[in-house]
Amino acid sequence: MAGERFNPEKADKLLSEKRYKVLDPQKVLDYFEVEQGNQVADLGAGNGFFTIPVARRTGAPVYAVDIEPKMLELLDERAKGEGLTNIAYVVSNLENIQLDDNTADKAIISLVLHEVPDLTKALQEVKRILKPGGQVLVIEWEAKESEMGPPLHERIGSQDMVNILSENGYKTEVTHFDEAIYGLKGTVSE
Ligand SMILES: C[S@@+](CC[C@H](N)C(=O)[O-])C[C@H]1O[C@@H](n2cnc3c(N)ncnc32)[C@H](O)[C@@H]1O
Repeated sequence: MAGERFNPEKADKLLSEKRYKVLDPQKVLDYFEVEQGNQVADLGAGNGFFTIPVARRTGAPVYAVDIEPKMLELLDERAKGEGLTNIAYVVSNLENIQLDDNTADKAIISLVLHEVPDLTKALQEVKRILKPGGQVLVIEWEAKESEMGPPLHERIGSQDMVNILSENGYKTEVTHFDEAIYGLKGTVSE
């Protein structure tokens, strides 16, 4: 069963100093080879922990998708404060993404999939919005106790996530950004 949906009232927690130390967005974007001109979809973007660094780095349209309008409003405020104008805000469920086919070179799904009820539907949608050869980076909590993060029973460990992506036609590569947080790069293979 999917974990509880993130409470927008706790949005500030997503931008804590500790989080920037544990999961440095620039290192993650280097690992995912996000470059100038890439069109990136940040799926479950929240208040923009990744959206803002992506928008600065690519200078191209970034699609910030989230089911919670409040999270996108918070992101919009931050983006305006930084003078960024290349973010498109899309209120949408990942199980039915309100973007056209072949929209993005890369998709980031950070700490979201454990909240999504139908992973197969979401991963098929991600494939649809990616351009041919496109890649997704899933960031999630390992299935072991850690100081931060959701309860253990809500987590999807890296091995289970590899299996789910493989079953949905992605080639996978796993890395760890911290002992409790992994990144799974998926390339569409069929
Ligand atoms: C824990 S926050 C992570 C936000 C951001 N990706 C980050 O790393 O800071 C999870 C976000 O996913 C969104 N979310 C949860 N379920 C979703 C769904 N089914 N479709 C789209 N967004 C969803 C929540 O509204 C929330 O903004």
